[in-house]
Amino acid sequence: DWKMASFVEEQVSLLKNKIGSGKVLLALSGGVDSSVAAGLLSRAIGKQLYCVFVDHGLLRKNEGDQVEEIFGEKGDFELNFVRVNAGEEYFEKLAGVEDPEKKRKIIGEQFIRIFEREANKIGTVDFLAQGTIYADVVESGLGKGAVIKSHHNVGGLPKNISFKEIVEPLRLLFKDEVRKVGLELGLPEHLVYRQPFPGPGLGVRIIGEVTPEKVRMVQDADFIYREEIEKAGLSRSYSQYFAALTNMRSVGVMGDFRTYDYAVALRAVITDDFMTAECADIPFSVLQRVMNRIVNEVKGVNRVFYDLTSKPPGTIEME
Ligand code: XMP
Repeated sequence: DWKMASFVEEQVSLLKNKIGSGKVLLALSGGVDSSVAAGLLSRAIGKQLYCVFVDHGLLRKNEGDQVEEIFGEKGDFELNFVRVNAGEEYFEKLAGVEDPEKKRKIIGEQFIRIFEREANKIGTVDFLAQGTIYADVVESGLGKGAVIKSHHNVGGLPKNISFKEIVEPLRLLFKDEVRKVGLELGLPEHLVYRQPFPGPGLGVRIIGEVTPEKVRMVQDADFIYREEIEKAGLSRSYSQYFAALTNMRSVGVMGDFRTYDYAVALRAVITDDFMTAECADIPFSVLQRVMNRIVNEVKGVNRVFYDLTSKPPGTIEME
């Protein structure tokens, strides 16, 4: 794509001029925007870029390792990559907490704290980079109504890190352009076409208390769901699809035994703007296959629901 190739070339030279020999710090989430920002900055300034990737233990199955594969030492990008495995720390803070807003708050605050701690190890940075895209710029300019959910990766800037300036190289791009830039930079398709994933991660896809065991269940169920949707050639047909773990346990039967296990809820929506959404019409045979695999392969789960709710009155995530 020549337009994106020239965008990359132009941005690389702008970034080089602006940053000079300074150090740049970026919080890498593994999402599309921060990953593309990392790729672009790496092209421009290489090892002057420090990416801190906080793995809160609430990512999808294998996701932390996938991010490390791309941006870590063995990957194709030149940069300083720091992965913080903070799962245990998060589980400790989240133990016994059931309220959705409290969970989000804890996850968000912990993120900032860890990010600051790592940043201070790096020393003085000159610039803080962010993967802000055009939609974020527009959204934050609008006066929003009631807070339905507090989004943890919007607006929460670390306070104890000093830097001269913020750099936001994707500020003028639409999402589809960000994806094209990503491909141009050589990022893998599975990352570039990744569906949105909330900052608080699986923490808001487990209703009620978060425990390592529940994370394992929802990760495994979600992995099966995504695998079957991909096998059916449907992965680009839906705006967002995922498994969540309800807080409901029910009686079932497995062989000669009674079970009393958790119920997984599958969700898939179609939407343009994520402000309203419709439930997706997934072929019944695909849903059945997913159900069969989940109840047979995921220990602790004995029931599967499909969430038909549209937004409004539902939201896309369940918490
Ligand atoms: P809801 O559940 O509010 O979701 O209908 C709308 C879109 O936003 C995503 N989402 C989040 N993204 N931090 C994020 O970065 C969050 O705390 C968060 N909560 C929801 C959700 O996945 C959907 O795409």
